[in-house]
Amino acid sequence: MRKENISDAVIRRLPRYYRQLTDLCNRGVVRISSHSLGQEMNITASQIRQDFSCFGEFGQQGYGYNVAELRRQIGHILGLDQHDKIILIGAGNLGRAITVHIGFQKYGYELAGIFDSNISLENIEISGIKIMHTNRLAEFCKENHPKMAVLCIPKSGAKEMVQKLLDLGVNAFWNFSHYDIHYDHPEAAVENVHLTDSLMTLSYAARRQEEYSAEPSSEEENTEE
Ligand code: NAI
Repeated sequence: MRKENISDAVIRRLPRYYRQLTDLCNRGVVRISSHSLGQEMNITASQIRQDFSCFGEFGQQGYGYNVAELRRQIGHILGLDQHDKIILIGAGNLGRAITVHIGFQKYGYELAGIFDSNISLENIEISGIKIMHTNRLAEFCKENHPKMAVLCIPKSGAKEMVQKLLDLGVNAFWNFSHYDIHYDHPEAAVENVHLTDSLMTLSYAARRQEEYSAEPSSEEENTEE
């Protein structure tokens, strides 16, 4: 499987392919052409073929793609078959929502531990997992070797926490805190999530839509005397 120099844009499309293929599997679709997959996803068949060619040949000429096999291979590229352990830091509103609503297991991960610095939260369960105080983090990481951490804590405590986690061997962060991890640790694997960025992008699109509908159409312009 070829993997060198894969563009970020292609990597960012893989979760979407994975999601679509999961949906197709659930609908009992066994095989699909790049044309039909493109129609389902509103992208061109040539874009799909080009994306998949980065990883070698997934499909067969005249047959299309075996949906389950393609899903498995994309899952493998994304590391979903590694059964990585994840820990979540910060069991507040956001941490709880993520624990309850993100089906980590569905994507092959194990949410192995939840930590919070507030001692009064210790042993409270979220989705069957007991919250641990952060003073148990070192011991836990030495025993369980989690690969990734979900950061749901305020920016003020995030810098110190990230350093601690890196020292404990956790070097991939799903970062909801507003701390810029890469600034201090360019080598860490980081996926920043700022939900409001998405809202502001929507806001821009809404403004553009308003402007577009306010513009006089060429027909209206032509009827002026
Ligand atoms: P919250 O106040 O309900 O929960 C924060 C939790 O983190 C508390 O339980 C607190 O005890 C714990 N905590 C604080 N410092 C800690 C540390 N150093 N180590 C371990 N635990 C610690 O706040 P909420 O609503 O859950 O938000 C958490 C953070 O996430 C906030 O700073 C907020 O700005 C950010 N956030 C980011 C979003 C995004 O899209 N990136 C969306 C919503 C919130």
